[in-house]
Amino acid sequence: MATGGDSSMPNVQSNIFSTNKTLLRSKTLYKQYVLETTVLPNEPESMRELRILTDNHEMGDMASPADEAQLLRMLIKLTGAKTTIEVGVYTGYSLLATALALPDAGKVVAIDTNPEYYELGRPFIEKAGVAHKVDFRAGLAHERLNELLADEANQGAFDLAFVDADKTSYGRYHEQLLRLVRVGGVLVYDNTLWFGTVVLPPDAPISEEDHRIAAAVRDLNASLAADGRVEVCQLTVADGVTICRRIV
Ligand SMILES: C[S@@+](CC[C@H](N)C(=O)[O-])C[C@H]1O[C@@H](n2cnc3c(N)ncnc32)[C@H](O)[C@@H]1O
Repeated sequence: MATGGDSSMPNVQSNIFSTNKTLLRSKTLYKQYVLETTVLPNEPESMRELRILTDNHEMGDMASPADEAQLLRMLIKLTGAKTTIEVGVYTGYSLLATALALPDAGKVVAIDTNPEYYELGRPFIEKAGVAHKVDFRAGLAHERLNELLADEANQGAFDLAFVDADKTSYGRYHEQLLRLVRVGGVLVYDNTLWFGTVVLPPDAPISEEDHRIAAAVRDLNASLAADGRVEVCQLTVADGVTICRRIV
């Protein structure tokens, strides 16, 4: 949640979702400093174009913000990931970040129930010359992940997974992904502080849906923190990003 500070900002589109999804309390620090100094000047042109298209879409607030996408690109490069999974594609902003960061022979299996959203972003992925790395699979994530698991060759075959879909199912995806991502590989969960709602009391004036998601995210965070199969790192980027490294 970005609150306070000066909302006027040259060069950066300030009244759009992707420049508002942060837990930092100062807009000046987040938008005028972090985004303008480091993030947006280094955002590839194809991602910038897709971000602006997505910001104008009715569900634009679902997209990952630019600083989170930058983190994802960095993680892929730092880990040398070649094969990844994305759960929750929407228009493909984080998917494009992934495809750009992967080596030319890399692959990302991208899963979403809604192929129409993905079709909006696909031209940008094609224009960026990285469509050959994307294996989009429409449908429910737990079903598509089970299909992957059915092929023994996929078990432990992935280097990284990024999960950004229905928050109440993350625990289930974690169990599936732990079998698909290799030991030493990385699982990244988005929205793990759910705009800070995880610390609100039960009578807080937020929607029932937000209460439900906050409860699910709290359960997830508690179980990840106690999960001996992974090493865990909680970041306050966007509305919370949790990085897990599979250790057994
Ligand atoms: C927050 S958006 C993903 C945003 C995307 N990662 C980005 O950065 O632009 C969540 C997506 O998850 C998809 N989704 C929701 N529930 C799902 C499920 N059970 N299986 C697969 N996809 C699902 C929605 O259709 C939506 O496109």
